[in-house]
Amino acid sequence: MLDCKPGKIMVDCTLGGSGHARLICEKICPGGTFIGIDQDKDAIENAKTRLLPFADRVHLFHGNFSSLGVFLSELNIDMVDGALVDLGVSLHQLSAGGRGFSFRADEPLDMRMDTRSDLTAETLLNTGTAGELEHIFRTYGEERWAKRIATHIIRYRDQNPLKTSRQLADLIITAIPKKAAAKQKIHPATRVFMSLRIAVNKELDVLEHFLDSILDHLKPAGRLCVLAFHSLEDRIVKKRFESWRKPCTCPPDFPRCVCGKIPLIKNLTPKVLRPGLAEIEKNPMARSTRLRAIEKL
Ligand SMILES: C[S@@+](CC[C@H](N)C(=O)[O-])C[C@H]1O[C@@H](n2cnc3c(N)ncnc32)[C@H](O)[C@@H]1O
Repeated sequence: MLDCKPGKIMVDCTLGGSGHARLICEKICPGGTFIGIDQDKDAIENAKTRLLPFADRVHLFHGNFSSLGVFLSELNIDMVDGALVDLGVSLHQLSAGGRGFSFRADEPLDMRMDTRSDLTAETLLNTGTAGELEHIFRTYGEERWAKRIATHIIRYRDQNPLKTSRQLADLIITAIPKKAAAKQKIHPATRVFMSLRIAVNKELDVLEHFLDSILDHLKPAGRLCVLAFHSLEDRIVKKRFESWRKPCTCPPDFPRCVCGKIPLIKNLTPKVLRPGLAEIEKNPMARSTRLRAIEKL
């Protein structure tokens, strides 16, 4: 979907473990230019090692992909041939990050992908109002028991500040009715943890901001691929792609277009792509991935 070929300029906006990055580098070298971004400094350190064979073609930036334009101007590059965004958390962040992304380990409730930013999950949980916490759990986590969980948190934190992922996971288990928890296919804390991570890292706002300007940075026939794991993220991407494909604002009963807004992209995935069973077996974390791709006209 990215159409990687030798000599092209490609951006991986979310390096993570550099799995995609390495494959892209293999395909665009010789002659290509690779730009890698991640807001987690561990991902940048890891990329320096994994992408060492391509070091003379690689430029790494520790920062948010919503600042892509700034990074490109530092390199004197106006436009690229392709950009990849693989949203969410990396395996490293979940399993070894030590920042409370997972309820499976007992870690400080941090959840910042970029540890230079101010807001942590701990601050949010210990200072947010019941209404704010309920809103986060319901909107970003689609958590049915959002109100009960928020009420339990407020009651608990009056006695003991919430500091660790285990404390929070145990509290969520006590807040959800036992019968309802038993029926769930996922761990009862899954949705709350995901919603806190989305709120702490302002993931939906950042994605919108990135989409506002990405077309300015793509060459004609340049490609953008987005891998989303969450229905809210995927909805944002789907809507934006649709608005680029059909920007015409004329009322539907007009016999012909008078607004003059012409399509900006070709949608390469009119139907979202999901992983097949074989891929899910090999990589269970891929199970809820949705891939959407476009080509700039
Ligand atoms: C799912 S992982 C990417 C995995 C990667 N494609 C690979 O092959 O290993 C997501 C990564 O994106 C980073 N990330 C998420 N949102 C970001 C943002 N707004 N700006 C920069 N990096 C971001 C996270 O820190 C994480 O390392």
